[in-house]
Amino acid sequence: MAHLFRAGYSGHLSKSGAARSISTALWRHVEPAPKDPILGVTEAFLADPSPHKVNVGVGAYRDDNGKPVVLECVREAERRIAGNLNIVTKREYLPMGGSVKMVEETLKLAYGENSDLIKDKRIAAVQALSGTGACRLFADFQKRFSPDSQIYIPAPTWSNHHNIWRDAHVPEKTFSYYHPETRGLDFASLMNDIKNAPNGSFFLLHACAHNPTGVDPTEEQWKEISHQFKVKGHFAFFDMAYQGFASGDPERDAKSIRIFLEDGHQIGCAQSYAKNMGLYGQRVGCLSVVCEDEKQAVAVKSQLQQIARPMYSNPPVHGALVVSIILSDPDLKSLWLKEVKGMADRIIGMRTALRENLEKLGSPLSWEHVTKQIGMFCYSGMTPEQVDRLTKEFHIYMTRNGRISMAGVTTGNVGYLANAIHEVTKSA
Ligand code: LMR
Repeated sequence: MAHLFRAGYSGHLSKSGAARSISTALWRHVEPAPKDPILGVTEAFLADPSPHKVNVGVGAYRDDNGKPVVLECVREAERRIAGNLNIVTKREYLPMGGSVKMVEETLKLAYGENSDLIKDKRIAAVQALSGTGACRLFADFQKRFSPDSQIYIPAPTWSNHHNIWRDAHVPEKTFSYYHPETRGLDFASLMNDIKNAPNGSFFLLHACAHNPTGVDPTEEQWKEISHQFKVKGHFAFFDMAYQGFASGDPERDAKSIRIFLEDGHQIGCAQSYAKNMGLYGQRVGCLSVVCEDEKQAVAVKSQLQQIARPMYSNPPVHGALVVSIILSDPDLKSLWLKEVKGMADRIIGMRTALRENLEKLGSPLSWEHVTKQIGMFCYSGMTPEQVDRLTKEFHIYMTRNGRISMAGVTTGNVGYLANAIHEVTKSA
């Protein structure tokens, strides 16, 4: 900003009296931004001409031929939209809070079909630009109404979580989550960090299928976490980007949230249909915040809308229509549930295949964690240098933290992938 004003003040008048252009100098100080650790991998993959290349970077589901998938339930919803002229009027602006129908159906997935919180109208909820947009709206809301608070984020977490709360000017702290030796949960340290955080702290929790580790607390552990949150008066904000991808059943994957609700927590929740409906580019999701009563929920919702208005005015309509049609039609909803399970099962099958291939190759390392971890990702334990070798020597693209998107593994590439992993890890 200072630079901008300097350039403005130093502008001289030319002979004709017009101010000399400052525009040539205006952006001279702008350096190229670093590549995004996840989406940058896709860019590098696309630029590689090798016929052997494999992309296990971004968390985006592929079928067994490595092709992106449009779910049958989505195709049917889109046929209905295309065939129904009345829906044309629905191309008008949505309200700032988005599609009421979509939000209503989405809340049932997180809070339960018969939730009293929904009946009592105690949840402030708005449509959001997928999970990222929901997290960002919440982070801005947190900054505005709890300006001195911080956010505790698990170590490690999805790289964009750091960016989101940073850009909302909420200071970040991390809490222990992953144990590199066991490649599992570091439950003792996690509990300690919860206990040691100041009372009333904000925590970001992954509701299921933790990204990037694929490591979730057990039901019993969730109960202990919830209890300790109660003792400390902490606030839990759940990011639920993978509902259905952990167990194949969205209802089961909401267990962590339900445990917190049973204990009477007023949680916040970000939901996304990118993965579980394959609506990645439609940017459709939901932000919800549980309130004390209906009056408070109305106030909170109005504030969330006010934050959204200058950012993007109102959310896009098409994805919300698709979701509403699917979830409000019992046949389409059961087709969706079947398709979610199909995607989760294919990934589970690929975990087994990857581990078996590595073991058959005589790898001296244990690959048990490949099948123990759940959801879309395997946190392989490979170092950034080993990942660099995979990319340079084998044209395999993944994030440098060693995360493998199991959704990109197929029966066609699992042997090639296992062989390459074996080559770069065998002398470790
Ligand atoms: C991922 O973690 O790969 C996905 O959530 C995609 C993204 O936006 O980073």
